[in-house]
Amino acid sequence: MKGAAARAEDSFLKSLDSLGRLERLDAVISRVQQVVRGLPLGRYRDVLHGLQIGHPLHPALVQIPMGAWFSAAVLDVVPGTGRSARLLVGVGVLSAAPAALAGWVDWAEQHEDQMRTGLVHAASIAAAVGLYARSWVHRGRGRMALGKAFGFAGLCAAGSGAMLGGHLAFRQAAGANKTQPVPHLLEEGWHPVGRVEDFPVGEAVRRELGEVALLVFREPGGRIHVLAERCSHLSGPLSGGEIADGCVECPWHGSVFRLSDGANVRGPATAPQPSFQVSVDADGTVHVRLPGAG
Ligand code: FES
Repeated sequence: MKGAAARAEDSFLKSLDSLGRLERLDAVISRVQQVVRGLPLGRYRDVLHGLQIGHPLHPALVQIPMGAWFSAAVLDVVPGTGRSARLLVGVGVLSAAPAALAGWVDWAEQHEDQMRTGLVHAASIAAAVGLYARSWVHRGRGRMALGKAFGFAGLCAAGSGAMLGGHLAFRQAAGANKTQPVPHLLEEGWHPVGRVEDFPVGEAVRRELGEVALLVFREPGGRIHVLAERCSHLSGPLSGGEIADGCVECPWHGSVFRLSDGANVRGPATAPQPSFQVSVDADGTVHVRLPGAG
């Protein structure tokens, strides 16, 4: 028999999980997604995804508004710190803009259930920004009690939004590198994956190596490339993607990976694909080895 605390925990988690099934949000999601995808961000879109730092940028950027707002709440209970608290409230409102932009570009390339939770997360943060903006105005007009009240209300909204962001990132794994388990699922050393003639020139072939799917590609010159087949972004099947200029493009959200070393050339993925060493023995059997496996 579960106790009252365990039942409350269950129902709390169930209500969080149910956000991902809110299909009535889909019409709004589709419109907002079009707008976000249409923003003329150029190469800055990958910067916002976090390609250069190897993981999503959004969680790093949100530290600034959250830190500023929390610090303002602390100052609000310390006498004589009104000006500093107002400054921090304003810093939080302004710094929420780049954090939100990074979040939206990530959000627009996610699974439906993640986007539904993400929309509720964004609504909570938007509410926080609105409350803090009003707090800033009231503080500026000398209405300190009202300014603090709006500030504390904003902190509640921001805290709820942050909790939903954590749910999205960790329970729904929205920003995690999906290839991270690959080295742990393989034995170290060399493994046969077929014969050279099993891999037609210029054709992406999917192979299984134990629990790991592989993408095998033989170039016209004979060189064979092998990458983990499931995309590091959200596990899209790279064997179904376009191959051009020595790279493979994921068919789901368009991340591009270099075949020779798995490097992440274009987002939304922020982690590279595990890249296997390849050796062909005298009888034409292809062997692969993943450095660091086991
Ligand atoms: S699964 Fe999203 S780009 Fe591959």
